[in-house]
Amino acid sequence: MSEVETSAPLPIARSVAPLRQQVRAWRDAGLRVGFVATMGALHEGHLGLVRDALIRADRVVASVFVNPTQFAPHEDLDSYPRQEARDAELLADAGCHLLFAPTAAVMYPEGFATRVEVGEPAAGLEADFRPHFFGGVAVVVVKLLNQVRADVALFGEKDYQQLLVVRRLARDLDIPTEIICSPTVRDAHGLALSSRNAYLSAEELEVARRLNIVLRQAGEAARVGSVAAAELEAVHALEAAGFNPVDYVAIRRAEDLATFDEDCIDAPARILAAAWLGRTRLIDNLAV
Ligand code: PAF
Repeated sequence: MSEVETSAPLPIARSVAPLRQQVRAWRDAGLRVGFVATMGALHEGHLGLVRDALIRADRVVASVFVNPTQFAPHEDLDSYPRQEARDAELLADAGCHLLFAPTAAVMYPEGFATRVEVGEPAAGLEADFRPHFFGGVAVVVVKLLNQVRADVALFGEKDYQQLLVVRRLARDLDIPTEIICSPTVRDAHGLALSSRNAYLSAEELEVARRLNIVLRQAGEAARVGSVAAAELEAVHALEAAGFNPVDYVAIRRAEDLATFDEDCIDAPARILAAAWLGRTRLIDNLAV
């Protein structure tokens, strides 16, 4: 289908031509365009990105595409929650103007053969445990930014390493869209909102809420003592709370995720973690 679908709560473009046509019309009319990339299963975190985009732009496009190339074969691609009709309603209520919901064939036509490999910010941390992840994210984000051609795009601080990777690739590849960081949205207990929180049982949810508390405490300990000791203590605290395994707790330079050579914090820092509860892998990060 090449036209924008208009029967849903907000217009939906399923391919690039109608998306670009609409964005071009807005820009020709002097309107600024904002963009929010998602994999759907929307929650307040995503809607916060849309609201932030509305502060910076006159029109907002959101994409929903569960990107297969950022999942390893053993990961949750098949079970990843999909709820397009509800997502469209939530986006419309949040003030979004257009949903871009391409098919896999639109994004990865037969013969697709291009890779995007980002260096430094994509090394270590998430990449140690999900080696395929940033390659998949980089390809789809470059495609989405090129397809939408927005003035600004908002990415959540919750996926901090991803945010740095997206910023770096946009800079390195001269993508003219400005990349803006939007703060993590948390529940009343400080748990970072995530589509994968839907997998958690009631008991796991209680444990999950310990993650941000442990990270805050470790960040405070690292500010006045050893970075390595604070990281280790946090791993033990998470294990004691019921996380198993804890993939990593790392205190890094906020700017580029480099390690602190002297085992003490001498520049703006970030504490980042990934840990499992049952079949759910949670990530979070905080400023130290
Ligand atoms: O953060 C996400 O939801 C995804 O990694 C993104 C940026 C939409 C790319 O698929």
